[in-house]
Amino acid sequence: MLSMPALLATSMLFRKRVKRWFRSQQQMLRRQCNRSYFSDWRTRLEPTSRKFGFDRGSPIDRYYIESFLACHAANIRGRVLEVGDDTYARKFGGAGVGKIDILHATTDNKKATIVADLTCAEIIPSETFDCIICTQTMQFIYDVSAAVCTLHRVLKPGGVLLVTFPGISQISRYDMDQWGEYWRFTTVSARRLFQSFGPDLTVKAYGNVLTAIAFLHGLAAEELRREELDYCDPDYEVLLTVRAAKSLNGHADRANSGHKESR
Ligand SMILES: C[S@@+](CC[C@H](N)C(=O)[O-])C[C@H]1O[C@@H](n2cnc3c(N)ncnc32)[C@H](O)[C@@H]1O
Repeated sequence: MLSMPALLATSMLFRKRVKRWFRSQQQMLRRQCNRSYFSDWRTRLEPTSRKFGFDRGSPIDRYYIESFLACHAANIRGRVLEVGDDTYARKFGGAGVGKIDILHATTDNKKATIVADLTCAEIIPSETFDCIICTQTMQFIYDVSAAVCTLHRVLKPGGVLLVTFPGISQISRYDMDQWGEYWRFTTVSARRLFQSFGPDLTVKAYGNVLTAIAFLHGLAAEELRREELDYCDPDYEVLLTVRAAKSLNGHADRANSGHKESR
């Protein structure tokens, strides 16, 4: 028969051992999970989806594009030009939006009101638009400086250009086959490209390592938490945005930056 103090000591020892056993089991489980997590990724040569997340919800880059456009909705006003379709001009432009033009590179887009190559779009008169929305297009244009030149020329002085492009992304197979996909950008190249617009220039990068991996795997924004999507790590530029207001003496700025106006 054990004395009371001996009984207490034995039960404390027993509890300690049980706790230690539980802790070791938890650690083992975590290690196994990590191992299967990494071995799973290492043995996968195919992404979860190739559709940018469209088949699972909304693409992660679209979450960033829409956050950016929502921030600058007040600039979407007057005569607006949007590339490809008018989705964002309608979604984010308010009552201040007048005429909306849609620019497309080829004649097969029935909604296009302007068919032109942005690198040599002489058919568009200079200083026409108060706002230009150019989302996910610059990576498809080889002579990207010529396209920037046209965007600058057709924007009215004081007008605002809203541009987005990929920093980290899979290839868009449809676009690659249609016109070619040439570029990925960084905040530094974006700033250099658009500096001729004048001093009212804001370049921003969205994303982090988690959203980069999730986006490359074709996961949807809905599969991540808002704080995960919104965390910005400057070493993982998933999506880049540029807001460039054309200065009132736009021609002088462009001449000073060494660019030639095509018209
Ligand atoms: C994927 S869409 C991007 C626009 C769309 N609103 C979006 O947000 O996804 C690709 C666009 O690039 C345009 N594009 C490709 N090469 C072009 C060029 N050289 N000049 C003008 N547009 C071009 C096509 O007309 C097409 O509308």
